[in-house]
Amino acid sequence: LASIEVDVSSLEPGMSMTVKWRGRPVFIRNRTQKEIDDGKGAQISDLKDPVARNANLPADAQATDVARSAGDGKENWLVMIGVCTHLGCIPLGQAGEYGGWFCPCHGSVYDTAGRIRHGPAPQNLAIPVYAFTAEKKIKVG
Ligand code: FES
Repeated sequence: LASIEVDVSSLEPGMSMTVKWRGRPVFIRNRTQKEIDDGKGAQISDLKDPVARNANLPADAQATDVARSAGDGKENWLVMIGVCTHLGCIPLGQAGEYGGWFCPCHGSVYDTAGRIRHGPAPQNLAIPVYAFTAEKKIKVG
């Protein structure tokens, strides 16, 4: 299927789901306020990969917290391809020193906005094309 529609109404803040899209896992997370605040606290200059890697934005958009999220007013939503940008393992959620994702294969650490902070992965977790088609419905692809 080129695109899928996902009902996210069951996701309270702090909850995630993984759906499959084009054979790959997609992580959908309803972030807590603390996770958003932590994401906003990072300086672009501290990031290993300063590019948003968000297919919904220009290719050179900076990796601010809001640019990684579903945008203004929907900053709690994070939708990402759940594939480590190092060698393709599936990172574990809410793990690692930034409380984001941790890849157990070779120790890449992603923050609460899915940005690579430590380890061998070269890029932030990729954000696919997606859009809200209703308040709690997301179309991926
Ligand atoms: Fe994730 Fe190597 S595949 S750190």
